[in-house]
Amino acid sequence: MVLGGSTVEALRIGMLGFGTVGRGVADLLLNHQELLSQRAGMPLRLVRIATRTPERDRGLSLGGVELTGDVNRVVNASDLDVVVELIGGFIPARDLVHRALESGKHVITANKALIAEYGSELFALAQSKGVQLGFEASVAGAVPVVKALRESLAGNRVDLVYGILNGTCNYILTEMREKGLPFAQVLSDAQDKGFAEADPSFDVDGIDAAHKLAILAAIAFGTHLDFARIVKEGIRHVSDTDIAWAKEMGYRIKLLAMARLKEGLLELAVRPVMVPESSMVAAVEGVSNAVFMHGDYAGTTMYHGRGAGERPTASAVVADLMDLARDLRVGSTGRIPALSVPVHHLRTLPIRTASQRQGTFYLRLAVTDRPGVLAEITAILARHAISLDAIHQKGRSRVEAVPLVMVTHETTEERIAMALVEIEQLDSVREPPRSIRIESGLA
Ligand SMILES: NC(=O)c1ccc[n+]([C@@H]2O[C@H](COP(=O)([O-])OP(=O)(O)OC[C@H]3O[C@@H](n4cnc5c(N)ncnc54)[C@H](OP(=O)(O)O)[C@@H]3O)[C@@H](O)[C@H]2O)c1
Repeated sequence: MVLGGSTVEALRIGMLGFGTVGRGVADLLLNHQELLSQRAGMPLRLVRIATRTPERDRGLSLGGVELTGDVNRVVNASDLDVVVELIGGFIPARDLVHRALESGKHVITANKALIAEYGSELFALAQSKGVQLGFEASVAGAVPVVKALRESLAGNRVDLVYGILNGTCNYILTEMREKGLPFAQVLSDAQDKGFAEADPSFDVDGIDAAHKLAILAAIAFGTHLDFARIVKEGIRHVSDTDIAWAKEMGYRIKLLAMARLKEGLLELAVRPVMVPESSMVAAVEGVSNAVFMHGDYAGTTMYHGRGAGERPTASAVVADLMDLARDLRVGSTGRIPALSVPVHHLRTLPIRTASQRQGTFYLRLAVTDRPGVLAEITAILARHAISLDAIHQKGRSRVEAVPLVMVTHETTEERIAMALVEIEQLDSVREPPRSIRIESGLA
């Protein structure tokens, strides 16, 4: 077939990695051959897979697909159009993606860590080589958020993107609330069921969600990838007591990733927040992901679904392969800039600092129940110009610490942090105080 000056008879695919996602992609490509070929106008042909242990049986009948332990047979190959990178992490994925792009091959990846931390150099390289670097699968699995933000909302000024981007954390918080169990126990159950990694730190410390947020923010605002400047707070400190208090006050606790552009300042944060029980974001439960985007013409749109797993993630990888095949069919690449604007137009925006980040906060203290304690605490808060909307205290005990919960009026993160440092020094305060931001205005 000759169209737009290009001769492409089939999209010849090489894959790096044959794990959870790799297996799903191979399965989909082999299972839906005819459907994909009809829709793309050419066959999507899986030619070769390179993986660390090619001899291991993956329970798939691969037909004529070549399996190799040598990644060079994919990266250096001259009989491939596109390399699908599904190894994960930085080493050797970063070098392999570099080499594939250098050699003029298109690349598609599900690797959010790689895109979030090294995307700038990779997109610049892809642009200079005139090839595509697809990454839909790197954010929210099957949920087409990259495409929605970059293409469907292309006519909007987007000022807010937020969502639940880590299914493991959302599962843990949902289980804690529904079963009234502490974090450590739910995490250990999640690990037994395969919903959490043996080393859960990427998930529970907010790193994984921050990788995804960095990608969404770059697309939304046409900015450089900015993983380092994202405020990252995970869910390890969220206690069953906080969850119970949230419930009592009409909120749910969610690990929320949020990118907001207001008055020229960017706020980028992944942290546990309280959201109203009646909000749509509160209704996103278990391993689900959801992303909300606000554009000046579109208003708020919401995208919800499976954010991980073999088949949902494969669905997103293959969507990028289909886009590539359709573009090549008409002799076009680089039609849609990876981050909404060409690399040389990407900008860096000033970040909103803790003294500029405003909100209302839930504060939880464990205090000795004696006269004057409340006065000491409220005096410190007043010195930092923090006023209170509500104070709750439950139980009385001369011996054990009792919980004291307060909700503030609008203040800044900096004031809260400084006040809590002073409050922690009081003899009557028995544990480090906790604060959780309340986000009342979300859809
Ligand atoms: N799992 C998900 O639900 C999900 C969702 C969204 C995005 N992602 C992303 O998708 C990527 C892959 O994730 P995954 O869950 O499929 O990982 P995985 O199951 O651990 O698979 C990784 C694969 O890479 C291969 N590999 C590792 N080191 C290698 C090396 N040095 N040379 C060649 N092959 C090597 C492994 O080989 P062997 O199997 O041969 O030992 C394995 O097949 C990651 O970037 C991840 O963040 C995953």
